[in-house]
Amino acid sequence: MNYFPDLPYAVGVVGAGSGIGRAVAGFLGRQGVSVACLDRNLAEAEKTARAVVADGGKAVAISIDVCDDSSLAPALDRMEQAFSRIHGVVNCAGITGHTNLKGHEVDMDDFDLVYRINLRGSMVLSKAVLPRMLAHNYGRLLHIASIAGKEGNAGMTAYSATKAGIIGLVKSLGKDYAETGITINALAPAVIHTPMVEALPKATADHIISKIPMRRCGELDEAAAMIAWIVSPACSFTTGFTFDLSGGRATY
Ligand SMILES: NC(=O)c1ccc[n+]([C@@H]2O[C@H](COP(=O)([O-])OP(=O)(O)OC[C@H]3O[C@@H](n4cnc5c(N)ncnc54)[C@H](O)[C@@H]3O)[C@@H](O)[C@H]2O)c1
Repeated sequence: MNYFPDLPYAVGVVGAGSGIGRAVAGFLGRQGVSVACLDRNLAEAEKTARAVVADGGKAVAISIDVCDDSSLAPALDRMEQAFSRIHGVVNCAGITGHTNLKGHEVDMDDFDLVYRINLRGSMVLSKAVLPRMLAHNYGRLLHIASIAGKEGNAGMTAYSATKAGIIGLVKSLGKDYAETGITINALAPAVIHTPMVEALPKATADHIISKIPMRRCGELDEAAAMIAWIVSPACSFTTGFTFDLSGGRATY
């Protein structure tokens, strides 16, 4: 199915150097969307962009660090120079931080880092992107939260708390911009096959999968297809919402 009948259409994928972001960039490229592959790991973002181009798509790789406020405007400027517009942004930059820790064992430096990337990063990116979308009265902004933000994963306090924060963030931002043609949503995946998941201790990953009624991980293509639709013009009457992608784990 073609989600993007009216091209050109440009989407920035933050965290495009790996995992879900890389898969989304590839999916969007195959739909004819121009993709800015944004990541703090420029070498990996370049690999993603090269793969999109090799597949017949349009892509550029751009360095960004959502922890470094000063990196955002230049990165978005570069995207606008490359594609003239920013129709959509998908924010896949995120880390789990240290896991398998009870609350009293949490290292606050690690907690602060998870907060800076997952939650503050989502806010500072929104602040940087929204004026550029407002200029055209159109935009699609999607932050990747997690099932952990809805249900809380044991041993993942910082991750769960910051992902819950993203769910609250989009509820508020969605209402702020509801009359503008800009939608701001989140996606709450359960475990998806990615390097981040492979990096989790096996016990943590097994525990998470055991809670999924479909008894499997989600696949990258399943995440990419849903994300592409959410940032397409077709997804036009939903804002402030957290979409579910959890194999039946969260039915709310
Ligand atoms: N994989 C899963 O099962 C799963 C489940 C639920 C939610 N999520 C969320 O989806 C998002 C993507 O997850 P993934 O599994 O693809 O992760 P990943 O580790 O494979 O990719 C994350 C990417 O974000 C980039 N990044 C990290 N910090 C950054 C920063 N400060 N600025 C810019 N880029 C930065 C990394 O370089 C990397 O390329 C994350 O927010 C994650 O929490 C993943």
